[in-house]
Amino acid sequence: MRLGAACAAAILLSLVHSSAATTSLEPAGWDAGVKLPEAVDLNPDPHVVEINLEAKLSQVEVAPGARVEAWTYDGGIPGPLIRARVGDRLVVHFTNRLPQPTTVHWHGLRIPIAMDGVPGASQPEVPPGGTFTYDFTVPDAGLFWYHPHIMSAAQVGFGLYGALLVEDPDEHVGVGDELVLVLSDIGFDKKGVLDSPTSGGSTAMVFGREGDYVLVNGRVRPRIAARSGARQRWRIVNAARSRYFQLELDDTSFTQIGGDGGLQERPEQLETVLLAPGERVDAIVTPTAAAGRELVLRALLFDRGYGSVEYRQPEELLTMAMSNDAPVLQGSLPKIHRTIEPLAIEGATPVSVTLGLGQKSDRAYEYQINGVPFLKDKPLHAAPGETQVWTVVNDTKWSHPFHLHGFFFQVLDDRGHAVRPLAWKDTVNVPYGKTARFAVRFDDRPGSWMFHCHILDHADGGLMGSVIVGDSTATTHAHGVAKFP
Ligand code: C2O
Ligand code: CU
Repeated sequence: MRLGAACAAAILLSLVHSSAATTSLEPAGWDAGVKLPEAVDLNPDPHVVEINLEAKLSQVEVAPGARVEAWTYDGGIPGPLIRARVGDRLVVHFTNRLPQPTTVHWHGLRIPIAMDGVPGASQPEVPPGGTFTYDFTVPDAGLFWYHPHIMSAAQVGFGLYGALLVEDPDEHVGVGDELVLVLSDIGFDKKGVLDSPTSGGSTAMVFGREGDYVLVNGRVRPRIAARSGARQRWRIVNAARSRYFQLELDDTSFTQIGGDGGLQERPEQLETVLLAPGERVDAIVTPTAAAGRELVLRALLFDRGYGSVEYRQPEELLTMAMSNDAPVLQGSLPKIHRTIEPLAIEGATPVSVTLGLGQKSDRAYEYQINGVPFLKDKPLHAAPGETQVWTVVNDTKWSHPFHLHGFFFQVLDDRGHAVRPLAWKDTVNVPYGKTARFAVRFDDRPGSWMFHCHILDHADGGLMGSVIVGDSTATTHAHGVAKFP
């Protein structure tokens, strides 16, 4: 009896070993509930991905009967998944059919400033009816995302975001089943009219507005099927304008293998993973449960400051229904390793940034960096090749996911040592009352690069500045100051 089972397991194991990297172990159609539409590559050249992308209003159903006239890329929330391979040229013919100007920012991509999508710093805004062609080489593997950089809190909150997956054919993690999960939220009333992006005034801005419908790939609590014991690779982005997601999956831990800037130094086993707005996580999960059981992915209550846990409940995000297929018994994961050198920070230029909250009038608040909103007229500077150590002090009662455009950084601990496992990041959460440090080496891509809180209400409320690399004199104030009509 025992021998027979062991034998069968051995056969299954060898099967799994030889094919796991490319073959699905999941039941057919397992991911239909969350499958993202993909942008169609119009270019026959295997090293060029050329797509059309259109921003437009569209009726979207996020749950049975819950329909909203949302702002979308190509008619859906999220926008299409764009797939490329590292080193590919990506050409995006973008058309704006929204009633407002917009741009597309490529979050996390180390591309030239002219492609960064920030009006005033890199391109003019794309007016209603206008077009713009983004054209650049994707330099790094990882999960990235795209979203507007004008009135971002409003436009992202209305539904404008999508994932960009840059794959590396030489990356072997031994898992053939993969999901791209875009987490977000949206607010609208019973008639399907979007919540005003300025509801609650500057007090709501200070907190950061969240939508009532919590979405996974544009749906409220979608379902997928899963086969017990079969590994899945989840590549997750938090595209919400304010909401944090601290994820927990019933009876299942996460093996985090990467984050913002692709694979990390080595895997790390975690019971929960946290994604602040803008952040990405690359994790392997192995749901193991009896046929017919359901495992639930939840967002736990997470304290990001006053108002974020009071009177709230954990959110159920995704249901996994265990199939009747024979459980899979997999061997250990291949060694997943990436060599990342800690940045040499001896002699690095110290830069200090203090996030604060001030009063702009009797009743209106504004966020400030180093005492001024939008760091007005005082951009920071860096020379190409220069390494800097940034100390970001959070002097407010709310946490802030701090994002730097165009360059990866390494998070440092209190003693100035790089946090292990080493990883490349573009967004780091700065908890309220705390300080974050990171090392960044600027390369030779001159321009005016934004940094800001990725709670987009906070960014539009003043938590934004720029660092000028080289001697660019471009100004950068167009981002948050425009008003919603
Ligand atoms: Cu997602 Cu200014 O960035
Ligand atoms: Cu913030």
